[in-house]
Amino acid sequence: YQALLLDEDKGWLLVGGKDHIYLLKSDSLDQPSRKVKTQRFSVATECANFVRLLQPFNKTHVYACGTGAFHPQCTYLHLGHNTEEPLFTLSHTVESGRGKCPFSPKEPFTARLTDGDLYAGTSVDFMGANAAIFRTSIQGSSQHYIRTEAFDHNWLNGEKLRSYFVGSFSIPDTRSPDDDKVYFFFKERAVEAGQWDKRVYSRVARVCKNDLGGRRSLINRWTTFLKARLVCSVPGPSGVDTQFDELEDIFVLETKDPQNPSIYGVFSTSSSIFRGSAVCVFSMASIRAAFNGPFAHKEGPDYRWVEYKGRIPYPRPGTCPSETYDALHKSTKDFPDEVVSFMRQHQLMWEPVLPLGGRPILTRVNSAYMLKKVVVDRVDAEDGPYDVLHLGTDDGKVVKAVSVIKDNWGTEEVILEELTVFQKCSPLPPPSAPQQQLYVSSELGVAQLGLQRCELYGTGCAECCLARDPYCSWDGQTCSRYFAMSRRRARRQDVKYGDPWSQCPDTEDDSDSVEVKVVYGVEGNSTFLECVPRSSQAELRWTLQVSDSQQQTVGQTHESREVSLPLPFQFSH
Ligand SMILES: *[C@@H]1O[C@H](CO)[C@@H](O)[C@H](O)[C@H]1NC(C)=O
Ligand SMILES: *[C@@H]1O[C@H](CO)[C@@H](O)[C@H](O)[C@H]1NC(C)=O
Repeated sequence: YQALLLDEDKGWLLVGGKDHIYLLKSDSLDQPSRKVKTQRFSVATECANFVRLLQPFNKTHVYACGTGAFHPQCTYLHLGHNTEEPLFTLSHTVESGRGKCPFSPKEPFTARLTDGDLYAGTSVDFMGANAAIFRTSIQGSSQHYIRTEAFDHNWLNGEKLRSYFVGSFSIPDTRSPDDDKVYFFFKERAVEAGQWDKRVYSRVARVCKNDLGGRRSLINRWTTFLKARLVCSVPGPSGVDTQFDELEDIFVLETKDPQNPSIYGVFSTSSSIFRGSAVCVFSMASIRAAFNGPFAHKEGPDYRWVEYKGRIPYPRPGTCPSETYDALHKSTKDFPDEVVSFMRQHQLMWEPVLPLGGRPILTRVNSAYMLKKVVVDRVDAEDGPYDVLHLGTDDGKVVKAVSVIKDNWGTEEVILEELTVFQKCSPLPPPSAPQQQLYVSSELGVAQLGLQRCELYGTGCAECCLARDPYCSWDGQTCSRYFAMSRRRARRQDVKYGDPWSQCPDTEDDSDSVEVKVVYGVEGNSTFLECVPRSSQAELRWTLQVSDSQQQTVGQTHESREVSLPLPFQFSH
């Protein structure tokens, strides 16, 4: 189930699978779904039609593409106007899916339909060797397209590399629609590392939406395609950084400013020494700075890649043409030959894009699992907004984590929950769901998860506070969903420090919140004291009651412990 499309207004979840598209009610996934058959062949299983793309087309139709038994094809799914009783029929018109959808269910792929154009990063042949970034017009019958140059590894270098394309997003650059761009995130063999170096780098590339290709050269090819390296690394003590080079997933977190969303990336390391994953955050400002900076240049086959120091033609390569502001260059077909020939040779920027803070916000090294997917939810908590990460792993887990900025501007990673959703899970996109639900898809099915399970953090103020979950606060009675609007006084939450002593002043006096247990032991022997913390953030502090007035801390642990102490004694935790 690789293609999911959530329509929050209508309450639908469309799921593309093998030979079928399913329609589910997003608030009750367990209700029977409706399905429509897409299969048009009666052939072997591997030649089925795997639906890979579902994108909203207009108010009544969804654009759908499938592998079509190694013969990609696209069509329209008619849903109609009635939200309660959608039509759910496939159109009889079938269009070629070449350049819109991969040939096989396994090939990495990304696509986005915006303003009647489908932007896709996909392979364009049966072998999956020839990758390209395409834009195909699907309005009218023209099927006109623009693409990256074929078989030129300076444009894209993805031979025999799985998970090539990771994501694509339309992000406005300025207030002028002429500057609108589509960004692609992917990984590829690094040409700049040298011919014999098999290193893989992560990339961000962009094209102008109004690129029409060149007039004399670069006909039907992008004339505004540029790419830069995305870096996610941990600075090392002697200047040797630990690089997480391989991009696994990208999430664009929208903010109030449409031109400046936060970009979250999951990366893994290709190192043979250790397995690791990391999450890095990038600003659009740093991505734009790389594209506005120097170009990378290679004089000829026997030269190294260097910073280009020569004259840069006008208009600056990579700039979108503007009908409003530039009478001479209303379209990319008006670009001077000099600009077009510069673009033929310079796709790569010299400066990489570095993450915010210069390092990952979360790393997992030599862990049992690798991080594969990320969905980010900005949550308003009592002490400020937090970006909560919902991370999909390669072993079917969803890890919920938050990065907390400390007083010294360092960050602390707090793992809130680890939940096994599927036993065996090929990690697939959990689409964003601000309606408090997360959808996780795998080969086996689609699951829906609430973003929070506050009730699991126990029944006391201290335990709720110790959990440090931005979704949850102590409301005086229970640990429950925190709403920024509700009454101020009663709520207790402290994501930053997780300090119950400041939040729950009754903790010590309130004898109800302390469970008293009598344990008998024999002098000189040991006794097992059991205390199971509710959240992974809780820390147990063992205190010995020496006399009525005197207490002595005898240790801090995260687990129950075995003690050997002179009897009689009294313990509290
Ligand atoms: C949506 O697109 C379909 C397919 O091209 C077309 O038949 C239909 O009339 C369009 N609907 C609207 C409301 O524009
Ligand atoms: C000491 O404690 C252990 C385990 O708690 C128990 O098995 C053993 O019988 C005890 N010895 C005496 C003398 O009580």
